[in-house]
Amino acid sequence: MSVQTESAPTVLLVDDEEYVLESLRRLLELDRFRCIAASSADRAMAELTTRDVDVMVTDLSMPGEDGLSLLRKARELRPQLPVIVLTGVGTVQSAVAAMKQGAVDFLQKPVDPEALVLLLRRAVEHGKLVDEVRSLRALAGDRVRPQAMIGDSAPMNALRRAIAAVAATEARVLIRGESGTGKELIAHAIHAQSRRSRKPFVRVNCAAIPESLFESEMFGHKKGAFTGAVTDRDGRFAEAHGGTLVLDEVGTLASVAQAKLLRVLESGEFAPVGEPRLHRCDVRVISITNEDLAERVRSGTFREDLYFRLNVVPIVAPALRDRLEDLPQLVSHCLERLSNRDGIPQKRISRGALEVLASYDWPGNVRELFHAVERAALLVPGEEIYAEEILPVVESGMLRIPRPQSSLGPEPKLDEESDLRLRERTQSLEKQLILEALRRCGGRKREACALLGIAASNFAYYAKKHQIADGAAS
Ligand SMILES: Nc1ncnc2c1ncn2[C@@H]1O[C@H](COP(=O)(O)OP(=O)(O)OP(=O)(O)O)[C@@H](O)[C@H]1O
Ligand SMILES: [Mg+2]
Repeated sequence: MSVQTESAPTVLLVDDEEYVLESLRRLLELDRFRCIAASSADRAMAELTTRDVDVMVTDLSMPGEDGLSLLRKARELRPQLPVIVLTGVGTVQSAVAAMKQGAVDFLQKPVDPEALVLLLRRAVEHGKLVDEVRSLRALAGDRVRPQAMIGDSAPMNALRRAIAAVAATEARVLIRGESGTGKELIAHAIHAQSRRSRKPFVRVNCAAIPESLFESEMFGHKKGAFTGAVTDRDGRFAEAHGGTLVLDEVGTLASVAQAKLLRVLESGEFAPVGEPRLHRCDVRVISITNEDLAERVRSGTFREDLYFRLNVVPIVAPALRDRLEDLPQLVSHCLERLSNRDGIPQKRISRGALEVLASYDWPGNVRELFHAVERAALLVPGEEIYAEEILPVVESGMLRIPRPQSSLGPEPKLDEESDLRLRERTQSLEKQLILEALRRCGGRKREACALLGIAASNFAYYAKKHQIADGAAS
């Protein structure tokens, strides 16, 4: 059909069963693929870190770490890597899960050789296109388009000012915050507003790099530096040259890795494994953590000197519960995204449903909110999401509104005079619910908590927040 490509594409085959690996390898080599076989998720990760792989094919069910977990890690490490998963008979569920995690396709075992070769060709082509688009964009000097950061609350505006201030400098930044608060978005925004915005933005998930491979992943290696190093390879520092390097989950670095990173940050130079020559490093480092690193320093598990090097300017991502006034805007944004993604009309959300959402404390923050909204939008047949529909969707830790026909009555109708301030209204709703639950349980807190669907250990928090006196409503 077309001109033969320069070199054979490399396929990483992962399966715990030797004979499967062997037969697939023979099959694919006949079709001029280069194959690397790995019999466990661990080995596969090691290969991914040291070799240039064009596409990965992995079994889903393996003893120990399974294919789904491997898929997740592999995509963290190489977001552009196409992955095809192999499933047993009758495991459509896991295939669906894999597709959701970003697998490009799946095949049922026993594998139909022609189908596999076809899928591989397509995946390799696709991977090439993605690369091409990326390099064309880089050539065209496309700016990294930052995702919109939603919210006009005071904490969000303070955050925007902080981002603008650090973006104008070269200072290292440590972004802290609970999970799902948008830390990656912040790192991106800093890069996009900085003078490095036309240069690479490279994110590394420190938790996904096996300890023994940290050096080669970050600093690269020379051909032959160790078994498996079949070509020279750039590390992340070289990839990010001139741009920004984001160290996500930096708190998970083991002590040897901490020491190696510190040396580079101090000297501004690094050496690829197996190469004596030092390379100058011109990257701006932004680190992200959801742990309390200062506490880790005190307990002796994170190096203090490294902490100071990374934490020149601290930025804190506000928790969603501290900016609940942004919730309606975030929900609309999410509904709009879903409608664009799925090509369906945008759903609306009722005021009652928003109140339900605002009465929860969102330990998983914006990410958790988006997931809840997505699930609700999927389940709701009509074009509007109501309180009753959002209830079963949100996590079990959520305040449960007594229904139907509670003492609160049906969802109130709104007139022009209604007080629409969400925060005040939801807070008062929360308080009413707690008082009502206490009343129904004759003041017995434990029982009231069960009714409310909250952990008994959280009662004190709510009582204090709403100044509910001991013995209230008993
Ligand atoms: N202010 C915001 N506006 C719009 N979307 C947001 C905002 N904050 C977070 N998100 C969205 O929430 C999701 C989670 O954000 P992100 O991945 O940046 O969180 P994170 O803080 O890195 O979480 P983790 O610690 O779990 O890695 C993403 O889909 C992101 O787009
Ligand atoms: Mg993150």
